[in-house]
Formats: sequence, structure tokens, C-alpha cells
Amino acid sequence: MPSTESVRFAVLGAGGHAREVAWIATDIAGPDAVACFVDHDLSPLIGRTLAGRPVLRMQDLAGSGLAVCPAVGDPHIRERMMLEAASFGLAAAPVVHPSAIVAPTARLGEGIVVFPRVVISVDTEIGQHTHLNTAASIHHDVRIGRYVTVSPGAHLCGNTAVEDFAYVGAGAVVAPGHPERPLTVGRGAMIGAQSCVVRDIPPAVVACGVPARPLTRRSGAAELAPLPEWTLSSDE
Ligand SMILES: CC(C)(COP(=O)(O)OP(=O)(O)OC[C@H]1O[C@@H](n2cnc3c(N)ncnc32)[C@H](O)[C@@H]1OP(=O)(O)O)[C@@H](O)C(=O)NCCC(=O)NCCS
Repeated sequence: MPSTESVRFAVLGAGGHAREVAWIATDIAGPDAVACFVDHDLSPLIGRTLAGRPVLRMQDLAGSGLAVCPAVGDPHIRERMMLEAASFGLAAAPVVHPSAIVAPTARLGEGIVVFPRVVISVDTEIGQHTHLNTAASIHHDVRIGRYVTVSPGAHLCGNTAVEDFAYVGAGAVVAPGHPERPLTVGRGAMIGAQSCVVRDIPPAVVACGVPARPLTRRSGAAELAPLPEWTLSSDE
């Protein structure tokens, strides 16, 4: 995996998360670390500058030698960006801020983004293109899948799992699981800000509250099984 210091980035996206990732990359490697932002073809920002850098289309990067960093919070959009980038022969590089504390036994996937003051503890596994936002903490034996977003100040306690494409909101807590049966946030699920997960959250479900209970499904997930009985209801 190339290190952040040795590459120049095209940051994919042009929103707040993209500007934050650009700031972190330049904090690590200096102002030349970020060459440009990339937005979709119809964006009014194309041809303009953002945070002092040009905003380009993906196809403008072909043959540029730049590394890419898909930098939007939505996990599915991040995957689509990465697939498009790969079709132009572009590869990702990690962005790991030096103020993050990473245990030597943690395994980090390709293209991971780790914001300042994140703590990644022992025997953890973080999948590719997952973003761990400011001051998130990931404790022992946690398994996080691909394209997961962990928001600022969220805490994943020991023996828990967060499956691919899930989104954990700001300040949320996933309570400790057991070594043989990790407490699991299902694939594509979304956990609300300041919520506390104490039971497994099914795939593609939006859950929130203390304790977190399913609220609805993420859009596009209507074909999935009915919500469990412990779903939030309007009279609670
Ligand atoms: C959970 C969430 C996805 C729900 O969004 P939504 O589908 O638009 O839901 P609504 O805002 O319409 O709220 C629906 C109900 O859930 C409640 N609710 C929403 N978010 C909640 C939360 N985090 N905790 C507890 N209850 C919550 C609302 O009060 C509302 O209750 P009501 O029907 O009794 O009035 C969203 O509120 C959230 O927390 N997103 C995480 C954002 C985040 O942390 N981003 C990090 C950026 S750095």
C-alpha cells in the first residue's frame, strides 16, 4: 500500500467531507499533496476552483498518475466513485493522520481514511475504502467491512462487527459483543447519531435511539425481510 506522504491525490467529491479529507492529506504531506477535486459531469463546480484547487471530471485524470481518494460520506456513492476511477486505471491510496493511534496488530484495508485522533485497537480488521472520522474509537477484535463510514466520536466496543456499506452516526456507541458472537451492525445499515446499539441491527435498516431500535429501511431495500418486532413505533 503506498503511504500518504509519497503520492499526489485527486480527492473524489466536492462537498464538506471532500474538503476535510483534502485538509488532512495536506496536513500530512504538505500543500502539494492534493492536486484537484473531482465532481460529477454536470456539476456547476467543474472548471472552477475549490479550496484553491481545480475541480475536474474523472476522465480528466486518465494517465495523470494521481492516486484517488473517494471522499463522500455515503458508502454506496463512494463505491461507485471508486469503480469509475478504476475504469480509468486510477488506484486509491490511504490517508491516515499521524495523530491516529493504530495498534500494530490492526489490519487496514486499501484506500482507508483515518481522521485525526482516531484510535484503532488490537486485533482489529478494517476493510477497504472505509472512513473512520475524527476521534472515533475501534476496540479490540472489531471487524469492519468495506466502504463503511464511522462518524466523528463513534465508539465500537470490543467484539463487535460492522458489515460492508454500513454507516455509524456521530457519537454512536456499539456496545460490547462476545468473542463467539460479535454484536453486529448489518450490511448497509445506518445507525443514528448518539444512538447505542445493544442488539444486532439487521442489514439495510436505519436504527436510532438509546437503545437503538429499527426506524425504517434505507431506500432501495424494500425487498428485504420485514423489520423485527422491536422496531420503533409511533406510540413510543
Ligand atoms: C437516524 C437518521 C438517519 C434518521 O434520519 P431520517 O430518516 O431523516 O429521520 P427523521 O429526521 O425524519 O426522524 C424520524 C424519527 O426518528 C427520530 N430520530 C432521528 N434521528 C435520531 C437519533 N439519532 N436518535 C434518536 N432519535 C432519532 C426523530 O426524532 C423522529 O422521531 P419522531 O417521528 O418521533 O418525530 C438521522 O437522524 C441520523 O441520526 N443520521 C446520522 C447523521 C450523522 O451522524 N452524520 C455524521 C456527519 S459527520
